Amino acid sequence: VRAVTQDHYGAADQLKVSDVPIPVPDSTSVLVKVRAASVNALDYHLMRGKPWIGRLLFRFGLTKPKRRIRGVDVAGTVESVSPGNQQFKPGDEVFGLGSGSFAEYVSADVGELQLKPTTLSFEQAAALPVAGVTALQGLRDKGQVKPGQSVLITGAGGGVGSFAVQIAVAMGARVTAVTSSRNVELVQSLGAERVVDYSREDYLKLDGSYDLILDISGDKPFRGLRRLLRPSGRIVVVGGAGLGRVITALIARSFLRHPVLTFIADVRPPELSTLAGWVTEGKLRPTVLKTYRLEETPDAIRLAESRQAQGKLVILPTGS
Ligand SMILES: NC(=O)c1ccc[n+]([C@@H]2O[C@H](COP(=O)([O-])OP(=O)(O)OC[C@H]3O[C@@H](n4cnc5c(N)ncnc54)[C@H](OP(=O)(O)O)[C@@H]3O)[C@@H](O)[C@H]2O)c1
Repeated sequence: VRAVTQDHYGAADQLKVSDVPIPVPDSTSVLVKVRAASVNALDYHLMRGKPWIGRLLFRFGLTKPKRRIRGVDVAGTVESVSPGNQQFKPGDEVFGLGSGSFAEYVSADVGELQLKPTTLSFEQAAALPVAGVTALQGLRDKGQVKPGQSVLITGAGGGVGSFAVQIAVAMGARVTAVTSSRNVELVQSLGAERVVDYSREDYLKLDGSYDLILDISGDKPFRGLRRLLRPSGRIVVVGGAGLGRVITALIARSFLRHPVLTFIADVRPPELSTLAGWVTEGKLRPTVLKTYRLEETPDAIRLAESRQAQGKLVILPTGS
């Protein structure tokens, strides 16, 4: 079967479509025919083996990638299950995590999959897992957003941000979204009360007093962000360029009065179900503005790495 593989750490140019053996699921996984797979920052971290600490802490592989096939988010159809596996049956439409999803088939752990409602397309479902759950857990669990609160979201036009704006609005928050000129219209359409174009306005000079800053872009110092918060406010750090942001957050939280929280999203079926439910109810709209064939995966990853993408980028391995 066809899959996007790499033999060494490095840039997207070295990714290639190869013929690989069809994955064989074990008692805790199922074979999924991939209908759509979305791109995340995690894909280029694994591709480059960076940050270096990931090779040790997260077992990327010390000198070369432990897993040759890229891709994590997946939506598709269950092709086969091993005997004794009762959770899914062949023909079920599912979405969630499947390591090696930039391929025609992937073996996915049943504990990281959820049935896909028929109201969601495969493209929409594939966009949800990592980015959607990160936005949900950042706002709900770490941010503890309440109706009527003011939330500032940076990096609002990207994968996580485009979900975060809508989820915060759905939770009853008043959202100020920070984004670049090209994403202003998109972010407005997602329900933000105020959109700040960071190329025209320094958002650290906003006069709002926020209950929460969901910091996805990670481009401003914490002492500047802190000035935008109410005394009871908090900062939830989602991303930023490299590991430096997390280290600075850990240092900053010893000095700042406001909580500065970091987290790694945990993609679980209940969260997948919540997100899919919101899409069905019309509260959440995955913004898939670009799709790619399997051969075009390096282009998708290059765009993701540039951090200039709009919403989510989705790979369609079977061209559907
Ligand atoms: N903690 C976790 O578990 C977790 C999970 C997933 C992702 N992440 C991290 O979250 C971050 C975002 O992920 P993503 O998938 O949403 O990536 P993405 O789609 O590439 O979005 C990145 C966002 O950053 C914004 N940005 C880029 N350069 C900027 C600059 N100079 N100033 C201000 N904003 C800038 C972009 O701006 P625009 O708004 O203008 O487009 C874009 O919205 C990444 O750092 C990723 O590693 C963390």
